[in-house]
Amino acid sequence: MILVLDFGSQYNQLITRRIREFGVYSELHSHRLTAEEIKEMQPKGIILSGGPHSVYDETSFRCDEAIFDLGIPVLGICYGMQLMTHHFGGKVERANQREYGKADIHVTEKARLFTGTPNEQTVWMSHSDKIIEAPADFVVEATSSSTPVAAMSNNDKDMYGVQFHPEVRNTVYGNDLLRQFVFGACDCQGDWTMANFVEQEVEKIQEKVGDKKVLCALSGGVDSSVVAALIHKAIGDQLTCIFVDHGLLRKDEGDMVMETFRDGFKMNIIRVDAQERFLNKLKGVTDPEQKRKIIGNEFIYVFDDEADRLKDMDFLAQGTLYTDIVESGTETAQTIKSHHNVGGLPENMQFELLEPLDTLFKDEVRALGLELGVPEAVVWRQPFPGPGLGIRILGEVTDEKIKIVRESDAILREEIKLAGLDREIWQYFTVLPDIRSVGVMGDARTYDHTVGIRAVTSIDGMTSDWARIPWDVLEKISTRIVNEVDHVNRIVYDVTSKPPATIEWE
Ligand code: XMP
Repeated sequence: MILVLDFGSQYNQLITRRIREFGVYSELHSHRLTAEEIKEMQPKGIILSGGPHSVYDETSFRCDEAIFDLGIPVLGICYGMQLMTHHFGGKVERANQREYGKADIHVTEKARLFTGTPNEQTVWMSHSDKIIEAPADFVVEATSSSTPVAAMSNNDKDMYGVQFHPEVRNTVYGNDLLRQFVFGACDCQGDWTMANFVEQEVEKIQEKVGDKKVLCALSGGVDSSVVAALIHKAIGDQLTCIFVDHGLLRKDEGDMVMETFRDGFKMNIIRVDAQERFLNKLKGVTDPEQKRKIIGNEFIYVFDDEADRLKDMDFLAQGTLYTDIVESGTETAQTIKSHHNVGGLPENMQFELLEPLDTLFKDEVRALGLELGVPEAVVWRQPFPGPGLGIRILGEVTDEKIKIVRESDAILREEIKLAGLDREIWQYFTVLPDIRSVGVMGDARTYDHTVGIRAVTSIDGMTSDWARIPWDVLEKISTRIVNEVDHVNRIVYDVTSKPPATIEWE
């Protein structure tokens, strides 16, 4: 394991990711870990991340300096390197100006980290303070026109430092450098694969759960599906899943969840058909926030009722991911984000939590899902909001409107897949804006619903752009929806990015 200590750089998660891509397990932790705690974790190497501070600030983040005496190889990146320099008696110069962006470095003396790479390289810099003198027993390995010590090392102590960011793609040989540290200096094996992750986790789950019982709210989304599959592999029938069908799912979704998990995985799974309950609660409600609250609360009540009936459940499984726990770019890795529970955890429930995905990134969860035999359609499912179609029907939710959104959405999805765009477009769906307009069909006047198409490209849903779907694909979707879905006579395409719009319409 390679331990990354977080000093607050916006790139801190990237370091962990890169190392995991080499097949070496890596975790990001707070810089506050003590040397004793680190020793217990038995990392093969430690990376000190970058950070926004100056080593001269009184409030700057420090680490337990005893970590430099543990005999474990250390790589300091940016601020991490400055800390190392400060500790070993080199000189860090305070600077008010920032060096930000691409820079060319000259590798002065071939040393371990630069093995096999050219003498002139382009790197990514993002720092203010800089090192003007390496500690006495360190060798300067690289310089740049503005930074006399762009890289340094002490091979005997197994201490390395780079002023630039090897984890950022713009550092052309950044991966080579990290590999040199991880495999060369730290002697890692690169045998961390999803297959042995499964093996380890299964063992951990069995040990933690013993002969007790686990409850899991399965939504059919990627995270809850993978968590259920993993726990099922570990403890089989000791796991019970509750699948709440609130009647606001996409076409055939409920049946697909049941086929996959009840028939395919042979899991204990309870499907709660609660459509009526939800629709009754939503009757006459038009305010978006109120609709969201009603659906969220009702979900908890339904789940609570079912869980009560089961009585002897000890653990609640959740698909919490690493990114839910580690907040990037903030103070430390231990800042906890509020978890994305499935519909929110009922407060009065006395469960112990089981969160076996909490060390994984989203793409790793997908790889794990495939390893466990979860179908591709589930593993690559596009994001779908908890309140479901309820927030894609503007205004009051009725049976008729659900039908229009569901049918039009199914056509859209089918055509996007046929056009081979389903992986390219991050999220795509139809909405019902609750307006009617005049049309003509055959020779008759119609006065019917308008359906909106929303399709966006995005990395994480925080910002997005509207997808440039080819005209002919849009044309086919439009024609099919108007012809095949009753009470629709007009289709519009949403060409707004986020911001200023949001992805969902409510
Ligand atoms: P917005 O509409 O905020 O959506 O731009 C960003 C992403 O979040 C999804 N979304 C939700 N997901 N529960 C969820 O699990 C929700 O209440 C919810 N609201 C929005 C949305 O589909 C998009 O991917």
